[in-house]
Amino acid sequence: VVRGLATAVGIVSLVSITGLATAAPGDPGKPRFTAGSAGVGDTYFPYAGNGGYDVSHYDLAVDYTPPAPAPAPLEGQFSGVATIDLTATADLDRFNLDLRGMSVSAMTINGKPATGIAPPAPGAEVDGAAYWHVQDDAARRWELTVQPRPKLKKGQRARLVVTYGGTTTRPTDIETAPYGWYTTRDGAIVVSEPDGSMTWYPVSDHPRDKATYSFRITVPEGKVAVANGLPDGPPVTANGRTTWSWDAVDEQASYLTTASVGDFEVRPVTHSASGVPIHDFVDSKLSPSRRTTTNASLALQPRMIDFFESRFGPYPFSSYGSSVDDDSVGYALETQTRPVYSGQAVQGTVAHELAHQWLGNAVSPKDWKDIWLNEGWATYATWLWNEENGIRTAQAAFDSWYAPARTPEYWALPIGDPGPMGLFATQVYNRGAGTLHALRLTVGDEAFFEGVQTWVQRYDDSTATTADFQAVYEEVSGQDLDAFFQEWLATAAKPSLP
Ligand code: ARG
Ligand code: ZN
Repeated sequence: VVRGLATAVGIVSLVSITGLATAAPGDPGKPRFTAGSAGVGDTYFPYAGNGGYDVSHYDLAVDYTPPAPAPAPLEGQFSGVATIDLTATADLDRFNLDLRGMSVSAMTINGKPATGIAPPAPGAEVDGAAYWHVQDDAARRWELTVQPRPKLKKGQRARLVVTYGGTTTRPTDIETAPYGWYTTRDGAIVVSEPDGSMTWYPVSDHPRDKATYSFRITVPEGKVAVANGLPDGPPVTANGRTTWSWDAVDEQASYLTTASVGDFEVRPVTHSASGVPIHDFVDSKLSPSRRTTTNASLALQPRMIDFFESRFGPYPFSSYGSSVDDDSVGYALETQTRPVYSGQAVQGTVAHELAHQWLGNAVSPKDWKDIWLNEGWATYATWLWNEENGIRTAQAAFDSWYAPARTPEYWALPIGDPGPMGLFATQVYNRGAGTLHALRLTVGDEAFFEGVQTWVQRYDDSTATTADFQAVYEEVSGQDLDAFFQEWLATAAKPSLP
């Protein structure tokens, strides 16, 4: 569901096509059909996502061959067909998708072929149904523009079929951390926060447009491909290639999409007490010690689901499970219903990624500047889990974060607006968790846990802001929390104890 419309970016593109837009009857001079927009208006990622439409479903058929053994280059061969069901939210002359490092070879819109052309000059008229692709790595601007013919009217549904592909390598995020379709020697690790899904499929790459997904991933026989959701039938092998089908029935933000490929053991399904099926995939090449650690951590998942349900409310999706690769991007990601772990899965990280299913996935940040709502909560959840298990109380965890002397630079980062280079700064995690503990001390346990359940219920399958979060806690506590959130999220100094 798309929430949020015209932006500064949208206005710029609107101006550039004014000359060719059709005037609405009775409203001469005002263009009726617009160019959507090249971004949803995110504060940090102006070209992430797109305006003018709402995607309901992505069906991704991918064929992937991992790199040949070294010394062959570390490059995978990827081809895909993305079938995208969308609804126009404005009268559209054109609209954009995000797609990075791949090229499009064919496209149909409602079954009619569109012609691939070179990007036209700004303001130039283009005949007929067409598409063009601008990829500007320096500006981090990757935009696939589609000109549908006939034009799409507001409220109209359309099916776009995009045939595309390329050679995969190791894309990096704005901080140069690896993400996206990360090629490994034996497959791929697919983790895309915040805007890496565009490295492997055409997408409106922002949490504001959540959608359901289905996947058919075809890999060399013997490889396992693990995406979000539930298996859609058993794997099918023909001519030395196996197709793994997955159905992600819960709407998800694009950054939470995964389709990791590797030499995974397919583990038996277990269940939480509430009946959530848990299905794990663990690299057969983990070292014995990493396998032992991973097995022990994953064995805790059913109890962790039970515990977090008691604090955050019912588990928000239809299934759960993990994938663990022996290769590493250097972090884990809470990909929806199926987190991805690098190298091994340790207990604290397993609790963290599980807690994100409620806090980050069911309720996602409306703007990337709200990232503390994800990372603060997931970190705080591990404090709660550790207390429940007699490892350390949440108060002790808070104290060991708050008490030590830290540099002024540490305290200077305002976690409510950490900047695109500070999204995953340690302060976002730890001051974020500290903020939640301080909030708990301020409003009391009853309001604190009522608040988080209200938050998850109210914004489930959606996105929300820090202001929305403050409003929930003012509602459940009856307190004015302006000064509290100002000090904890926006002040460039050590906050005082409540
Ligand atoms: N959300 C992930 C976690 O908390 C971290 C993702 C880091 N992503 C990145 N592009 N550096 O475990
Ligand atoms: Zn996290």
